[in-house]
Amino acid sequence: MANLKTKFCGLEFKNPIIVASAETGNSLDNIKKCIDYDAGGVIIKTVGDIPEMQTLTNNSKYAILNDNGELIRGKVNRSFFFYSRSGYAIEHYADWIPILREAQAYAQKQGSHIIGNIASNTIEGWIKLAKVMKESGIQLVELNYQCPHPTDYTKPTEGNWIAQDPNVTAEVTRRILEAVDIKVMVKLTPEAHNLTSIAKAAHDAGAGSVAVNSRFVGFAVNVEKAEPYIGGVAGIGGPWIKYLTLRWIHEIYSMLGIPISGSNGIYSGRDAIEYFMTGARIMQVCSVLMVHGIEWLPKIIKDVDNFLDAHDYPDLESIYGIASRKSETLKQLFEAEPIYAVVDHEKCKFPKCTICTKICFYDALHIGNDKIETQPENCIGCDLCESICPFDALHMTPDKQLALHV
Ligand SMILES: Cc1cc2nc3c(=O)[nH]c(=O)nc-3n(C[C@H](O)[C@H](O)[C@H](O)COP(=O)(O)O)c2cc1C
Repeated sequence: MANLKTKFCGLEFKNPIIVASAETGNSLDNIKKCIDYDAGGVIIKTVGDIPEMQTLTNNSKYAILNDNGELIRGKVNRSFFFYSRSGYAIEHYADWIPILREAQAYAQKQGSHIIGNIASNTIEGWIKLAKVMKESGIQLVELNYQCPHPTDYTKPTEGNWIAQDPNVTAEVTRRILEAVDIKVMVKLTPEAHNLTSIAKAAHDAGAGSVAVNSRFVGFAVNVEKAEPYIGGVAGIGGPWIKYLTLRWIHEIYSMLGIPISGSNGIYSGRDAIEYFMTGARIMQVCSVLMVHGIEWLPKIIKDVDNFLDAHDYPDLESIYGIASRKSETLKQLFEAEPIYAVVDHEKCKFPKCTICTKICFYDALHIGNDKIETQPENCIGCDLCESICPFDALHMTPDKQLALHV
């Protein structure tokens, strides 16, 4: 068994899989269940002081869609879209103090952590809620600057807009940290124009870490009823979003090197490994638990462990940021030496299979009389034929002479 421990913002996590802020952390019972299922940490449902956002939760709506835009009934596989709208924790923020104290005592016994999550629409409110977290013994609190739902709010200090503006992000973060001595993680939104600039503003203002990132806002149509699902605009996420999230984790890790918690698109342990290799230290999971239940957690953790063992990595640390560090610059990519496609006619299943000729748009592969023929002078070395060949019959070579004579 590999060492799954990871350090994040001064805390040591027994494993990197954290339950994201959502319905999974909206009650003491749910939080305890996450801990029982071995979560490295649990982020609580957002505790706020905006009455409309508490009311909204009583009107929460959820729909699980397939990639054809239909409701999924029964078994959900990984190609789902989670379309939903909910608000903040229903209870008054003061009621969370005893819940948080008990949750932390429970977490501590099992080597897990409780992470706070707050949102307000005034600076005073942010400070008050951060103080509530501190008073409850919380060491790390996530600042929810990105909630997709209060779309009627238009002032920059209000919920969803904060993480769209680096100046407002810096101002709110700085004011909270001037007033309260607590570690914060700023949660970013993919709705921002440039997440790296928001992350930098947050970090410069004193945030120890960023969560990259929350969900997009979407609009899903039920064509049979000619109306939107769940009444209209809502948050949208699922495993399909993974590569867009990884892009920002890669950029923030490479340009700023600050602690990152990855969120948005993780379904399996293999996904979590991708996030870790890109530069996230702890991974938040939400939608997958909404569709499979909290019981899914140990599977993700076990998959991470199995991956490390199967690849002879002694610990997570040995793969942290490894893929991002190997990423080539555009200049390196543009200056790469030419390579050419070569067909291994022993392996090639021509004439049964001609797929490579259909997907070559540079006229470098042709159907010949009795085999696939190559035209190296046209080949631009794009790798597409090699990657699609089901018989491993194509490879790329820098040797033009070899390519010419096959
Ligand atoms: C039903 C639901 C409720 C959520 N509630 C909150 C919340 O209260 N506060 C918050 O910061 N993020 C909230 N989120 C966002 C998640 O914490 C998470 O960032 C997002 O869903 C992306 O992760 P995923 O791909 O694992 O779902 C919620 C997401 C969902 C689907």
